[in-house]
Amino acid sequence: MNPTHPIETHGRPIILIGLMGCGKTTIGKLVSKRTGMPLLDMDALIEEQVGMKISQIFAEQGEAHFRMLETALLRYLAEHPQTPPPIISTGGGVVVRPENRQLLRDLGFVVWLNVSPRSLLHRNIRSSNRPLLQTENPADTIYRLWAERGPLYKETAHRILNTSRTEVGEVCRRVCALAERFFAHR
Ligand code: S3P
Repeated sequence: MNPTHPIETHGRPIILIGLMGCGKTTIGKLVSKRTGMPLLDMDALIEEQVGMKISQIFAEQGEAHFRMLETALLRYLAEHPQTPPPIISTGGGVVVRPENRQLLRDLGFVVWLNVSPRSLLHRNIRSSNRPLLQTENPADTIYRLWAERGPLYKETAHRILNTSRTEVGEVCRRVCALAERFFAHR
């Protein structure tokens, strides 16, 4: 068994942001394994709390309602620091609301996993639980979202990792190294 490499985060989480399919959940799991920090997957937690799949929430209550649930969860995490602090995997649209961007930055160390739209399209990201990609032309949607949200990810992140061509184990190590450096100066 690989020994864990704990990171001193002073009780604060590490947070992964980026577009659908950029690897937040995969990298989150690896960072969790490496550091011993529990993984908190915001989409999964919202589904559990509401008792509905994301696709069902979008269909029955609308995207605006889902965004409200994301904000409510972030506010809860801000008011109730988790022990031990988690590695948080967010939904790709969490940065759309200005309030969320501030909440994320205040909550912990935020890393943007930036993958080019071209690389994203090579990955199999059109899952039935991604309602925003159930369109005629998912490629157009990815390019549009990347253009619209790129500046928002940049504004929210403390650090950016360009990971289009980086293998997942290496991305995990880089996230951990950046987190160590970030928290060493706090
Ligand atoms: C969304 C991304 C999804 C999920 C929801 C909306 C988005 O999460 O939160 O479908 O607006 O980009 P992933 O990024 O984990 O796929």
